[in-house]
Amino acid sequence: MQVYNFSAGPAMLPADVMAIARDEFCDFRQTGSGLIELSHRGPEFTAVIDRAVANIRELMGLTDDHAVTFIQGGASLQFAMVPMNLMLPGGFAEYADTGSWSSKAMKEAKLFGEVRTVASSKEAKYTHIPDVSAWAMDPAASYLHITSNNTIFGTQYHAFPEAPTPLVADMSSDIMSKVIDASKFGLIYAGAQKNIGPSGLTLVVVHRDLLGMAPLTIPTVMDYAVMAENGSMLNTPPTYGIYIAGLVFRWLKAKGGLSAMERQNITKAGLLYDCLDSTGFYGSPVARENRSRMNVPFTLHDATLDEAFLKGAKERGLVQLKGHRSVGGMRASIYNAMPVEGVQALVDYMKEFEKTKG
Ligand SMILES: Cc1ncc(COP(=O)(O)O)c(C=O)c1O
Repeated sequence: MQVYNFSAGPAMLPADVMAIARDEFCDFRQTGSGLIELSHRGPEFTAVIDRAVANIRELMGLTDDHAVTFIQGGASLQFAMVPMNLMLPGGFAEYADTGSWSSKAMKEAKLFGEVRTVASSKEAKYTHIPDVSAWAMDPAASYLHITSNNTIFGTQYHAFPEAPTPLVADMSSDIMSKVIDASKFGLIYAGAQKNIGPSGLTLVVVHRDLLGMAPLTIPTVMDYAVMAENGSMLNTPPTYGIYIAGLVFRWLKAKGGLSAMERQNITKAGLLYDCLDSTGFYGSPVARENRSRMNVPFTLHDATLDEAFLKGAKERGLVQLKGHRSVGGMRASIYNAMPVEGVQALVDYMKEFEKTKG
């Protein structure tokens, strides 16, 4: 049975990538060893990481102003590394509180300096993103932090604030899903497990102007300047994760890059939201203008049908649709690797379910 996996992360990877990884697992390009077994200093892995970085630069349109690094510890470590590196002594940073991950980032930043909330949708249970054109940002802040896509609540920035300070974005759940102007960002980080590859690996893109600002007390592996200087190879990097990510970048390029991905993601999200809006049977808790193209939470008008909905979905190979425990209902995560056919299969099932139970 064809299975479509709607998990929020770790999430499905492109079928082509999974097939290449399977074929190369035990014998990486005629070396007789798997890549997972090879030295990170050897020519095979060096070629893999160099190609991965070059492809990130090409896909995201990065100039040499930005350094590209791979760091371990997931996006959560970046919640701490960002203030450790960028919070000026005695300074403060501004944060937009638009969901659980934003507030976790704020909690960590408070360990290193003052955190000021520039905008918040907490009172509205994070169902929208406050209008960026109305934010009063302070040019004295060390940086401004946003979460570009709120994985749990299903909201996404479709325009970014014009920050007078370095703009830092947690793009864990929408990295490389659309074209962005990277020159506007001081730092972008993303846990890999949604649009890039295996969990644990984190992509960090940092403007070179922000390197070397960390205090001397910073642990070496947490210093962006050191990681950038050493090409992410200060210590042993997560080689297999970087290899898989490299395959995903190759796949993205073959698909036509981020503009093609963006078009496909608009189509996929459109199919699903049209279905949610078409009758009163399903509902979307999110403000229309902030709807995410990556994570689509939805409810059934009668929550007692939830279990039957999930059971029927599973029988049709549509899995991992249960909503986050803090929101309830359903959530369909439709990252880059989810084909249009997968979303169409979900929509067909939703219509069929509505017909029988509505
Ligand atoms: C937007 C966002 N930020 C941060 C995280 C935390 O990532 P990690 O588990 O890699 O620390 C997640 C996790 O799913 C996320 O969706």
